[in-house]
Amino acid sequence: MIQLVLGDILDMVGDPAKLGGTAHRYFSPGALLIEDGKITEAGFADELKQKYAPKLSLEDCQVIDYCGHLITPGFIDTHIHYPQTEMIAAYGEQLLTWLEKYAFPTEMQFDDSDYAEKIAELFLNELLNNGTTTALVFGTVHPESVDAFFKQAQKRHLRMIAGKVLMDRNCPDNLSDTAETGYLESKALIEKWHNTDRLSYAITPRFAPTSSPEQLAKCRDLLNEYPDVYLHTHLSENKAECDWIKSLYPDATNYLSVYDNAGLVKKRSVFAHGIHLDESEYQCLANKEAAISHCPTSNLFIGSGLFNLAKCEQHDVKVGLGTDVGGGSSFSMLQTYNEAYKIQQLQNHTMSAFKGLYLATLGGARALDLEGTIGNFLPGCEADFIVFDTAPTPFLGFRLAKCQDLHERLFCSLMLGDDRMIKQTYILGAPANPFPSSFTAESAQQELV
Ligand code: GUN
Ligand code: ZN
Repeated sequence: MIQLVLGDILDMVGDPAKLGGTAHRYFSPGALLIEDGKITEAGFADELKQKYAPKLSLEDCQVIDYCGHLITPGFIDTHIHYPQTEMIAAYGEQLLTWLEKYAFPTEMQFDDSDYAEKIAELFLNELLNNGTTTALVFGTVHPESVDAFFKQAQKRHLRMIAGKVLMDRNCPDNLSDTAETGYLESKALIEKWHNTDRLSYAITPRFAPTSSPEQLAKCRDLLNEYPDVYLHTHLSENKAECDWIKSLYPDATNYLSVYDNAGLVKKRSVFAHGIHLDESEYQCLANKEAAISHCPTSNLFIGSGLFNLAKCEQHDVKVGLGTDVGGGSSFSMLQTYNEAYKIQQLQNHTMSAFKGLYLATLGGARALDLEGTIGNFLPGCEADFIVFDTAPTPFLGFRLAKCQDLHERLFCSLMLGDDRMIKQTYILGAPANPFPSSFTAESAQQELV
């Protein structure tokens, strides 16, 4: 099937910190030519219409008209916990007590496959409403949680990466696996789901305090057996967590070295947060081609600290953006940029809207080693994209109409927007109308309270 999507087409082909004004492409009035769910070309509408005239006259060619609307690649959320959907906005705690009081009790419910599937439905609908088309996702310790998630993601034809939490100490008994059972359960899930349709598996030790050295060694065994699976964990988020690492691993040079000594720092390793790092940790991440997922709403909400983007740019560390729901306070990557911008302002570092779009799209794709597959509109990429609204509310319509240039229009859309700014999300060229959720507003209240 051939599709021509008309609109103001904007994507990133590089990092603005390196390429400046040549990092983005903007075609207005522009078009995307899509064939069988993949991008053939993005360009100016007139040029594409001329170049592809014979194809466009074919009977099965569909023209989708979003003239005047901004169209970008779908957002990539590089760190999020689907089981924590229901406890977003949990009041009053910092990381370690927040885990005990809110995260662990919530996650205990996910041994129930039916419940896990209902939450996965709700979660995926929320991602799509917010224009997020790919995410790197934590499950819980229960393999059922990952089966439920992948089943729902597969039904929606989504590109998703997820894994079962590995956690064999310092946690409630009913959320604990062992080095051996965690290994066997992860292996079975990899065999079942990894590289099935658009799904990939991430080995997911929660963080070093809840995995024994034996469990981290088992993670390495899995990476050796399945070299193209991901490694997904937390790193240096909170000061008390970092102190805990020092007492658990007194011989470690720094936090990252705990993972590095276990052989877990490599391409396709994604570390959430990375706030309190020393120079050698930035350098190690860069040398090993590992990535950080920066989660600004979470870092502010749980009071963890200010992420140093400039250091990552200096050391050439790959960075993507993450919402970290439920530690993060929004599913929206627009709101995530809003808080990222302010975190950089507090450090005298100005983060442009183009840098924000880069982190939310191509930067995320690079962090996930998926450049060329998702993240921009270069030929061959999968056609997951977002159509922005021009006036999601009368006031936003008024403010956007006052914008003088592309940067201002993008900045206002990111800074002021949320799910209302996303007019439509497309997956492989098809509109991602939210599937009916098992929860209506009323039944959600009854069932979840
Ligand atoms: N560190 C270990 N587990 C978690 C979690 O669930 N959320 C966040 N934000 N940090 C963590
Ligand atoms: Zn997290």
